[in-house]
Amino acid sequence: MIRIAAVVMLLLKGIDLQAQEAIMYTVHTASMKTPIQPSLWGIFFEDINRGADGGLNADLVKNGSFEFNTPLMGWKPVGRKMPDGTAIIVNQNSTNPNNPKYLQLDIPPRLDSIGLANEGFGGMAIKKDLEYELSLLYRQAAPGIRLNIQLLNAAGKPIATGGLQPNGQSQEWKEQSISLTATDTAQKGRLVIWFEGPGKLDLDMISLYPADTWKGRPKGFRADMVQVLADMKPGFLRFPGGCIVEGTDLNERYQWKQTIGPRVDRKLIINKWNHGVAARPTPDYYQSYALGFLEYFQLCEDIGAVPMPIINCGMSCQFNTAEVVPMDHLDPYIQDALDLIEFANGKDNTTWGKKRAELGHPAPFNMKWLGIGNENWGPQYIDRLQAFTKAIKQKYPDIQLITSTGYSPNPQFRYMDSALRKLNVDIIDEHYYHMPNWFFMNAAKYDNYDRKGPKIFLGEYAAQSVRIGSQENRNTLWCALSEAAFMTGLERNADIVAMSAYAPLFAHYDGWQWTPNLIWFNNTKVIPTPSYYVQQLFSRNRGTHVVPLLQDNTPVTGQDSCYATATIDSTTNELIIKMVNASGERKQRHLQLPDVKRKKLKGFITILTGDSPSTVNTVEAINKIIPVTNTWEAKTESIVTLVPYSLSILRMRLE
Ligand code: AHR
Repeated sequence: MIRIAAVVMLLLKGIDLQAQEAIMYTVHTASMKTPIQPSLWGIFFEDINRGADGGLNADLVKNGSFEFNTPLMGWKPVGRKMPDGTAIIVNQNSTNPNNPKYLQLDIPPRLDSIGLANEGFGGMAIKKDLEYELSLLYRQAAPGIRLNIQLLNAAGKPIATGGLQPNGQSQEWKEQSISLTATDTAQKGRLVIWFEGPGKLDLDMISLYPADTWKGRPKGFRADMVQVLADMKPGFLRFPGGCIVEGTDLNERYQWKQTIGPRVDRKLIINKWNHGVAARPTPDYYQSYALGFLEYFQLCEDIGAVPMPIINCGMSCQFNTAEVVPMDHLDPYIQDALDLIEFANGKDNTTWGKKRAELGHPAPFNMKWLGIGNENWGPQYIDRLQAFTKAIKQKYPDIQLITSTGYSPNPQFRYMDSALRKLNVDIIDEHYYHMPNWFFMNAAKYDNYDRKGPKIFLGEYAAQSVRIGSQENRNTLWCALSEAAFMTGLERNADIVAMSAYAPLFAHYDGWQWTPNLIWFNNTKVIPTPSYYVQQLFSRNRGTHVVPLLQDNTPVTGQDSCYATATIDSTTNELIIKMVNASGERKQRHLQLPDVKRKKLKGFITILTGDSPSTVNTVEAINKIIPVTNTWEAKTESIVTLVPYSLSILRMRLE
């Protein structure tokens, strides 16, 4: 705060003296030429680093459906030793392939004090006075077993209790739930279900949701995690990935139709990231699909983002098995894409539009883009892309297709870029995971791109403090500033750069595979990184049109370690200037606004900075780097001081 106050003082004092010495930035506010797409700044979501189960999905129970390859993973017997045959896993794959496994209890008379405990995702975070809903599916051949439910704190003390008596004899699965209220808080609690017999009881789909989910929806999302997304005001949400779209092999690819409808029918599969990073295996990482395609679309609607699904193109991950579907077997994959468009946008008298309505969302989701493949490359991708394009454009000419160039600006990229341009595709997806220096050096990358060719989507990018794949990468201020510098280049070239997103989005402190990430979290807290605030500030200060900001008649792309752009928000008639100082020195800039007639302009200055370029936000110090906003009064000629290692955003009303 002290630093910010000093900056403001500097702004107000001694302007005339300094004006002669400071480098001049001239902003031509009357030259409002390039419109900025509302989609320029968006979000990339992938179920990596426990983004979905153990993350966004607020369910505290791990493996509540007993479907993991090791069916009791996450569960441990408690109390007396259970005699053989008392609690077994039944697999009825031939009759119920989507949800084959369940727990079968056969408890003889006089066997008490037996139960199962669930560890949650690195423990269960339980909040005092909050209600929790435990729900399960059951059927019973011989009624009699009562379930005594407890939530325990780390010391084993019960902090919520309840009882559940399944009703009557039943060959059909029935749902039952009870509500528990916690009398205390626990960081690493657990759930215990005690079985009081005798009887024969089958159990499946056990879940434990807190009542304080996003919008209070039953079995919903963690509200704090959705809130940070909403706070970004994102233009779009890309989902469900990422490599997860491709799968390690084609069997494990993402198939959206298996992720909608009753949860009990959503076929759980292993998560690609379970075994995707050798140095950080996560053997308990699966996809329950509680976050399925309807939930993704709903999330987009909730946070005001246009949905951008990515679909498998008949190729698995080329870093792994690199399987391809033969061209004459591609039809089901293409049909999935066509059906997805109908599911998202079709009227409720179409097959898939009707399905959406039956699932509770009669109104279409207005999807505009569809990604064909994730990081796929090579001639085999081009062949498959052409088949998808032909079928989709014939039926849905207005859907813009996002096309892949692979994972990096390497020789494959050059082949892909030229092949895609020859096909005159709609949008080319480029991915950049490089060290901060690359981002600083490439702030002018798009200044000379072909203006007549396809639009560009920066589908994934993030500065790596060490190198891509390093477990030592950290979300430093320096990384964030390099991304900010690069983003000034995206903004200046908003005529061809249509969309962009940092990747990956979420990472659980105790369950990550990949670093860096935009937002870290644990079971109780959300820790936005400096990169998050850069994304948020650019998005919330987007503007509607780019206007020239020039130093000696050229854009500011690293001269004297500074980067700058300007936009106008024509809806509010505000001028927005973004400036990055990537040096350890204060920089003075003489701002000149020759087209502005008013003598005084009122507004705000927001500064993102920190003690040193290596500063990071941590669980212990969540707010070490956060944006700070102050009022700002400028003249048509004024001095602005850029503090060391900072992103500054000026926002002022012109009329
Ligand atoms: O963002 C993490 C991974 O990086 C994505 O899954 C993939 O698309 C890229 O290689």
